[in-house]
Amino acid sequence: MIRAGVIGWPVAHSRSPLIHGYWLKRYGIDGSYDRHAVEPGAAAAFVRSLRERGLAGCNVTLPHKEAVYAAADETLPAARAAGAANTLWFENDRLMADNTDAAGYLNSLLAAVPGLDLASKTVAVLGAGGAARGIIFALHGAGVGTVHVFNRTRTRADAVATYFGSKVNAHDWNERVAGSRGADLIVNTTALGLAGGDPLDMDVSQLKASCIVSDIVYVPLETPLLAAAKARGLRTVDGLDMLLHQAVPGFEMWFGVRPEVTPELRALLVRDIEGT
Ligand SMILES: NC(=O)c1ccc[n+]([C@@H]2O[C@H](COP(=O)([O-])OP(=O)(O)OC[C@H]3O[C@@H](n4cnc5c(N)ncnc54)[C@H](OP(=O)(O)O)[C@@H]3O)[C@@H](O)[C@H]2O)c1
Repeated sequence: MIRAGVIGWPVAHSRSPLIHGYWLKRYGIDGSYDRHAVEPGAAAAFVRSLRERGLAGCNVTLPHKEAVYAAADETLPAARAAGAANTLWFENDRLMADNTDAAGYLNSLLAAVPGLDLASKTVAVLGAGGAARGIIFALHGAGVGTVHVFNRTRTRADAVATYFGSKVNAHDWNERVAGSRGADLIVNTTALGLAGGDPLDMDVSQLKASCIVSDIVYVPLETPLLAAAKARGLRTVDGLDMLLHQAVPGFEMWFGVRPEVTPELRALLVRDIEGT
């Protein structure tokens, strides 16, 4: 039996076991995927002992993404861009770390908007944390033109612009409405809008009629940002598809099958999120 899992603190909320459990059953694989509660400060030691624990690898959620990135033997470019990793596996006894949120976001976008060509497009990114960095990395790979980053802590946006170079511009948080007017795509990468948390104050009335509005928060599934965009008739992409697509590479690495993100899997997660 092949074993994998997810580490986090807390980890009880993680929906990854639902996703990987669905695929294990669908592909008839003799494997398991469990939650592991790992205290802050203990993540590096935990992932260095994955083999001894009988695990082929793991996913990593908050607050450990930076610690496991630092603990890996080898890191992939998306992880280096984010300074954080969410997927670990072994290659020739070396602990590998990638950030699959990056490709997960891009693939969710391409699945939701078939034929989407991001070449030379302008993108507005709200937030400048690890998720924002991974997403900008993926957008670069897709050939986007200019990226505007708006962040509460300006120095963090500046650091992102410095890392990615001249195609990325840093802005103050209060410039986000005026600065997004010309965007072809906007993505909220902050936790604002998360159920029970602080709201995201973002006026969508000035966005272009062709602007795609995406949010990586997926609880609620339709965040106030997406609801406002829909009400204006704008195309929207929610954060659940990113969650599903980011899980694909890990499953393939551990269990040897590249799994499909199916409507049935999405429906399973939607039911879980909506508590039905
Ligand atoms: N859908 C998915 O599959 C998926 C994958 C990964 C992450 N996520 C979600 O993405 C979110 C961000 O993750 P992360 O790893 O990038 O976190 P992070 O590194 O901690 O970054 C958080 C970002 O949110 C901003 N922020 C927090 N509170 C704010 C406030 N009150 N006003 C304005 N900005 C605020 C931060 O700004 P400062 O720099 O000023 O603090 C920072 O830019 C989380 O909610 C996470 O669950 C979703």
